[in-house]
Amino acid sequence: MSQDHQQAEARAAKLRERIEYHNYRYYVLDDPLISDAEYDRLFRELQELEKAFPELASPDSPTRRVGAEPQEKFSKVRHHAPMLSLANAFDEAELRAFEKRIRNLLGTVDSIDYVSELKIDGVAVALTYHGGVLRRGATRGNGLVGEDITENLRTIHRLPGRLETPSPPALVEIRGEVFLPIPAFNRMNEERSAAGESPFANPRNAAAGALRQLDPAVTASRPLDFFAYSIGHIEGLPLQSQHQILKVLGDWGLPVNSDYRHQHSLEGVIEYCRQWEAKRNSLDYEIDGVVVKVNDLELQQALGSVSRDPRWAIAYKFPGQTATTRLLKIGINVGRTGSLNPYAILEPVRVGGVTIRNATLHNEDDIRRKDIREGDWVIVKRAGDVIPQVVGPIMEKRSGKEVEFSYPRNCPVCRSEAVREPGDAMAYCSNNACPARRLESLNHFVSRGAMDIRGLGPQTLQKLVEEGLVRDPSDLYRLDRETISQLEGYKEKSTQNLLASLENSLQQPFSRVLFALGIRHVGDTVAELLASEFRDVERLSRASQEEIASVKGIGPEIAATVHGYFQRPENLELVNRLKEAGLNLQQGPSQRGSALEGKTFVITGTLPGMSRQQARQFIESNGGKVTSSVSSRTDYLVAGESPGSKLQKAESLGVRVITGEELQTMV
Ligand code: IVH
Repeated sequence: MSQDHQQAEARAAKLRERIEYHNYRYYVLDDPLISDAEYDRLFRELQELEKAFPELASPDSPTRRVGAEPQEKFSKVRHHAPMLSLANAFDEAELRAFEKRIRNLLGTVDSIDYVSELKIDGVAVALTYHGGVLRRGATRGNGLVGEDITENLRTIHRLPGRLETPSPPALVEIRGEVFLPIPAFNRMNEERSAAGESPFANPRNAAAGALRQLDPAVTASRPLDFFAYSIGHIEGLPLQSQHQILKVLGDWGLPVNSDYRHQHSLEGVIEYCRQWEAKRNSLDYEIDGVVVKVNDLELQQALGSVSRDPRWAIAYKFPGQTATTRLLKIGINVGRTGSLNPYAILEPVRVGGVTIRNATLHNEDDIRRKDIREGDWVIVKRAGDVIPQVVGPIMEKRSGKEVEFSYPRNCPVCRSEAVREPGDAMAYCSNNACPARRLESLNHFVSRGAMDIRGLGPQTLQKLVEEGLVRDPSDLYRLDRETISQLEGYKEKSTQNLLASLENSLQQPFSRVLFALGIRHVGDTVAELLASEFRDVERLSRASQEEIASVKGIGPEIAATVHGYFQRPENLELVNRLKEAGLNLQQGPSQRGSALEGKTFVITGTLPGMSRQQARQFIESNGGKVTSSVSSRTDYLVAGESPGSKLQKAESLGVRVITGEELQTMV
C-alpha cells in the first residue's frame, strides 16, 4: 500500500468519526458544536477523498446518507424471517378475547407479562447489520420478499450505520417503522401547496413516497425518522424477552420509542391503551393504536402464528379520525405572506373526540382538482397536529344545488388587488400594509418555533393592533407594564410573565430572528443556513441574489425572495428597529456546558435512573466524549450494575471508576 493511500485511509476514518459525532450532536442531541459551514467542509473533504480513492468508500460512510447515485429500480430481497402482519382488536372485549385465546393455548400459565408499544403509523422496514455494519434495508413487500431501499434508509440521520457495541452479533435483522414527524409533514405540504403541487394526504403516505424515491437525494430532503421495535433474526446472541430486545436495540444506538411499558397483567395493558387513546394527539408523530406483545420469547414461540398473524401479538386500533359532514361555505384567510388561503366552514362534527368546525382546503387548484363545492357533503380527516383537511366530496350525495367556488380577485380584508403569478398555486394580497398580513406576521413572530414569546395569544395581538399600540414586531418590545396590565385578562402575574417572556426572547439566536421575520420560503432550516453562512444581517441584506443562491441547500427561488425582502426600505427599517430593541441580528458562539471538556468516558452496566443513551447525552452535552471500549486514554469508566469485563479492564489499566451519581456531581 502506498504512503498516500495509507494517509488517505487514516484521514477518511478520522473524518467519518468526526462527521458521525457531529451528526449525533445535530440530529439526536439538537445541540451542534460546529457551524454548518464547518460541517460542510469536513463533509466535502471526505467526499473528495472517497472520490480520489474509491476503495475507501465504505458502505456505512456518512457521505452515503445524502447523495448516492439514483437507482434504476429497486432490487428484490428476501427477508431472513417473514415480516408478519397483526390481527386487530377494536375494543376492550377484543383485548380480553386475545388473552383468553392465549390462555387456552398455553393451558397452565397463571400470569402473562406483556409489553405494550405505541403503534407508529409509518412504513415497516427491515435492516440487516453484518458484524454491526448496516448492509441492507428493505421494505416489507409481501412479507417474504421486499424491496432493497438501503441507500434511501441511509439518509435517515438517527439510523446508525454501525451498531454502537464492541461485540455486535454476526448478523441481525432489525425491524422498525420509518415515519415523517408531523411538523415536517405540515411544512412539506405547505411548500408543496405553494409550489402548486398537490399535498400528501397524511404523513404515512409522504414517508412511503419518500422511501420509494429512486434518487436518494430526494429522500434526503424529507426529514424522515425511525423507531426500532423488534428483531426478525439474530445470530450469536440469545434473547429472552421483548423487553430485553427493546433494551438491547437502545444500547446499540438505535432510536427506540421510550413510551413502551412492561405490564404484568392485561389490566395494565387496557389502562395503557385507554391512556394513549386520549393522549394520541400530544405526540409529534402519528400513532394509530397500540401493539401488545407477549413478553416472553419462549411463550411467543409456543404460540406461533396463524397464516400471517402471530398469536402472541395484537394491534389495538384507535377509532378512526375521519367523519362526514356538510361543507357550508368556503372562506378565505390571509396569511402573513399575503397568501389567500381557502378553508372550509363545516357543519360542526366530532372526529376522534374533538369537534371540528373548519378544515383547510390548501389552494385554488386543489379545490378544482377535487371538485369541492359549497354545500357538498365531504369527508374530513384529522390526525395528530395535522390541520383538519377536507379529503374530498361525496359525489353520490350531490343534489345539484351545490355551488362552485369562485376564488376572490381582491383581498377580503383590505380589498387590494390579489395577484396570482404564473407558477404560484394561489393568489397573494398585493398590499404590504394589509392589516390581516400584519396580524399574521405578528402571530408568526411570537410563535414557539420563532421568538417563542409566551402569553401573547392571537386575540391580544389583534387588540394591540386595533388599538394602534403595535404596528410591527419591534413595537412589542416597547410595551410597558402599565400598558400590558390594562389589557383584558392581564393581571399582575400574567403581566409579569409576558414581560419576562419578551426579555427572554432577546436571547434567541440570529437564525430564530431571521425565521421570525416571516420572509416567504424562509422556514427554520433555511433560516439556519442563512444565519450560519452570512452570520450578520448587514452582510445578508447586502448580499446579491447569486451569493444567496450559492449557499448549499438554497435554491434560486428562495434566493430571489430573500434578496427581494432586503430590497424594500420598510423591511430594512424593521430590521433596524429590531436591532435597537436588542434582538440578536448576528450569529453568536454556540453555547454548551464544558465541565467535562476534554474527558473521555466509557459506560458499562445498568445505571440507576438513567439509560445509557441518557448518560451519553449528559456527558456529551457537557463537553465530554464517550467511546465504546476502555483503553489507556479513557479518563473515567461509569459503571452501573452488572458491569462486565470493562470494569476489570479499567481496573487493570488504572482508569478511574465512578458511579452514575458521581458523574452527575462532576457537572
Ligand atoms: S410489531 C409480528 N411493533 O404495525 C409483529 N409493529 O400491522 C409485527 N407497527 O407492519 C410488528 N408500530 O408496520 C410492531 N411498535 C410496533 C409497531 C408496529 C407500528 C406497524 C408495523 C406492522 C404493523 C402491524
